[in-house]
Amino acid sequence: MANFAANQFMNDMKTMAKDRSEFLALGWHHFSKDTAAADVIERCAKKKARWLDTVFNEVGDAFGKDLSNYTDEVLVECNIAKSIIRALFRVDPDARGMARITTAEVKSRYGTEGETFYSAPPYTYVHIPQDASEQNAMHMDVYGDYDTEHYTIWVPLNPCAHKPVTVAPRTHKERSLAKTLFILERRTGFEFPVYQPRTHSPDTELGDYLIWDGRLHHAGNLNTSCQPHVAVNFKLRSLPVEMEPSSTHDEVLADGTEGEVDVTGFTQLYLRIFKDIENSDFITDGSVTAYSSIYNADRLIDSWNLASDEKRRVSFALTLGAMRRDKLVSEVARINLIAILLAPEFLWSLNSVGDYFFKHADESELSKLCLAYFERYHYYQIADVLRKISDRHAIEVLPGLKPAIEYPVYGWAK
Ligand SMILES: [Fe+2]
Repeated sequence: MANFAANQFMNDMKTMAKDRSEFLALGWHHFSKDTAAADVIERCAKKKARWLDTVFNEVGDAFGKDLSNYTDEVLVECNIAKSIIRALFRVDPDARGMARITTAEVKSRYGTEGETFYSAPPYTYVHIPQDASEQNAMHMDVYGDYDTEHYTIWVPLNPCAHKPVTVAPRTHKERSLAKTLFILERRTGFEFPVYQPRTHSPDTELGDYLIWDGRLHHAGNLNTSCQPHVAVNFKLRSLPVEMEPSSTHDEVLADGTEGEVDVTGFTQLYLRIFKDIENSDFITDGSVTAYSSIYNADRLIDSWNLASDEKRRVSFALTLGAMRRDKLVSEVARINLIAILLAPEFLWSLNSVGDYFFKHADESELSKLCLAYFERYHYYQIADVLRKISDRHAIEVLPGLKPAIEYPVYGWAK
């Protein structure tokens, strides 16, 4: 018996080492067939089907449009519905459970249990059929930051027999032959007769998931099926995730769960908030002042009387919606300002509202905005974005800001 256990242990160690070395060589892996996460993925898939149905119907009713045919005439309304679904998964116990189980499985398969990884809350994509706005060209998830480890776990909540993503194996290593040839080919159009196949586009079953190195070249493909498809992404990093709340994997494990959300109620609430911001005028191109904008935005937020989970969901949905629009338009600046004041959920909105102030206000107003926001949320990620705004516009947006601010990292659930 002892011999059997010892043999089993040695075999497990060999499998682990093989899995890890294969991943390190290729830069990606397809976890398939009976993964530890299969049950929780199935639960999330059922939830997704209910949410898609409810949210698209509610948004369609609110605008008096039929959203079941995803035509160009209903793209705006579909984008609102997509943002709501993505925000629902952002603060969802099952999505968090999925992050926990997939991460634990990856760590155990690769023998990296001792390493500390940071995660950001679930980042979900909704691909409606033929929706070109969700398609992206070959890219990396992390650029230039080669001192840190960065992995993406991609979990589709539906079977995908339409090759939803394309990966270019081995392109995650700087100065590797695969990467050099890959870049050369893309620049010249010439195909080198080595390293076939150069790219790979797997089909996936429900319960499968992919993991790739953040530096691997990959792309999200058009949804050519006739059903909306949803996939949830998790980032794993050796340093806290920039621009987003970030906790260590252990903290995610220890974190409690929230109850079920009232999807119809949340959708109606979000639509009301969206209209309120549209009809407000606390930022207009002719009048851009930091303190009065913040004061009036805060008063609007108070009038909604939101619980903290609702604030995070609304904030995230507003940011995602604003990302599809021109950030230098005053209405979009109002959306972005409300989003960051509700919660520091996804700081893309802070970047954008900073750019709007740079374009339409005095430098001193941009500084006041940054200072007021940093005083409210004194987190490393905020300082990091403010530094980026400073660099981009070659001005000191926050005079006196220390170059290095200590973590604590803004936690996942706080
Ligand atoms: Fe990506």
